Amino acid sequence: MELFEAIAKRHSYRGPYLDKPVPREDLRKIVQAGIQAPSARNAQSTSFVIVDDPEVMNHLREIVPISAPAAIVCVVDPSPVVHGKSFELEDCAAAVENMLLAITTLGYASVWLEGVLHGGRAEQVAELLGVPPSKRVQVILPVGVPAENWQQREKKPFEERAWFNHYGGS
Ligand SMILES: Cc1cc2nc3c(=O)[nH]c(=O)nc-3n(C[C@H](O)[C@H](O)[C@H](O)COP(=O)(O)O)c2cc1C
Repeated sequence: MELFEAIAKRHSYRGPYLDKPVPREDLRKIVQAGIQAPSARNAQSTSFVIVDDPEVMNHLREIVPISAPAAIVCVVDPSPVVHGKSFELEDCAAAVENMLLAITTLGYASVWLEGVLHGGRAEQVAELLGVPPSKRVQVILPVGVPAENWQQREKKPFEERAWFNHYGGS
C-alpha cells in the first residue's frame, strides 16, 4: 500500500478482531516504524512493550478493554532533554502515528488508546509489564485482523482547516 493510501485509509477501529495471531515479524515491522519516528534532540524517549503472549494479553484485558490478539504498549521517559523541558508526548505521538500507518499498510486494525488509561490504569499496566517507576505508560495500540468493516470518521474539508500564506485565507 502506498503512503497516501495508508494515510487515507487509517481509522480508529473499535470492533471485534479475528482470533488470528499477529506474526512477530509483522509486530517487529510495525514497532520499527515507531522507532524510526523523529524525537526531540533524537532523545528517542519512547520505548515499546509488545504483548503477544495470550496469558499476558488476558491480564492486560483485565485493566483495559482490548479484544485484539496483540498490543503495543508505548512507554515514555519524561526526563528533560533541552532547557529543562521534556518532549515525551510529542515523541510518543510521532511514533504512534508511524505505527498506525504501518498497521494499516499491513492490513491490520487498531485504535489509539490513551484516554482509557487515566484513573490509575496506566500505572496498573506499568506494574503488569514491569515498567520502571521513572517511565510512564502513555498509549496502547491493539493490533489484529479486523472482523468487521468500520466507517471512517469524517474530516473537515481542506478549506476549513488549511490556507496558503494567511490564516483563514486572504
Ligand atoms: C491523544 C489521543 C487519545 C485517544 N484516546 C482514545 C481512547 O482512549 N479510546 C479510544 O477509543 N480512542 C481514543 N483516541 C482515538 C480518537 O477517538 C480518534 O482518533 C478520533 O475519534 C478520530 O477518529 P479516527 O482515528 O478514525 O480518524 C485517541 C486519539 C488521540 C489522538
